[in-house]
Amino acid sequence: MSRLAAGVVLVTAHEPALAPDGPSGEDVGMTATAFMSVSLDPPLVLVSLREGSRMDDLLAEQPLWAVSMLSESQRHIAGRFAMKGRISDRLLFEDIPYVRGETSGALLVGGALAALECRTDQRVPAGDHTLVIGRVLAARLPSADGGPLLYFRGRYRHLG
Ligand SMILES: Cc1cc2nc3c(=O)[nH]c(=O)nc-3n(C[C@H](O)[C@H](O)[C@H](O)COP(=O)(O)O)c2cc1C
Repeated sequence: MSRLAAGVVLVTAHEPALAPDGPSGEDVGMTATAFMSVSLDPPLVLVSLREGSRMDDLLAEQPLWAVSMLSESQRHIAGRFAMKGRISDRLLFEDIPYVRGETSGALLVGGALAALECRTDQRVPAGDHTLVIGRVLAARLPSADGGPLLYFRGRYRHLG
C-alpha cells in the first residue's frame, strides 16, 4: 500500500469538556491518508481510524468532525499530528492558522486546499481499524492555489 500515492488530510474534532464548570474541552487532530469519497448523493466520505487511537476513541462519542486537505506547504502539520503517544494536542494547534467550523465545532486548517465538516453516518469495525463514514454537512476552500501534500513510499511528496 506504500506504493499507492495518497493525499494527506488532517482529521479534527472537538472533545467536549468533562464538566460544564471544569476546564474547557480540547481540540484533537490526526494525520490520515485513508480518506476517500464514498457517495455524491447523499455526500458521504470515509476515514479509516486505527482502533484505540485517540481519534477513534473520540469519534465513538463525538459525531461531528472535520477534514482539512493539506497543501504542499503544510508538511509540518502532518508531521506533528502523526506523533505517537501525544498527551495533548493543545500546544500543537497554537501556531497554526485555523477557524472553528460553525457546523461541527472542529478546527479547519487555514491554507488547506479544502475543508469538509461531517457528521458520522455509520461506524463499521474492520479488523484493527474503524471505518467512519460521514455525511458532509459543509465544505469550504480556504486556499485558492497550491499543490497537494502527498504521501508515497513512506515519504511526503509534492506534485511535479
Ligand atoms: C502519512 C500518514 C498517514 C496516516 N494515516 C492514517 C490513517 O489513515 N488512519 C489512522 O488511523 N492513522 C493514520 N496515521 C497514523 C496516525 O496519524 C497516528 O497514529 C496518530 O496521530 C497517533 O496518535 P495515536 O497515538 O492516538 O494513534 C497516519 C500517519 C502518517 C504519518
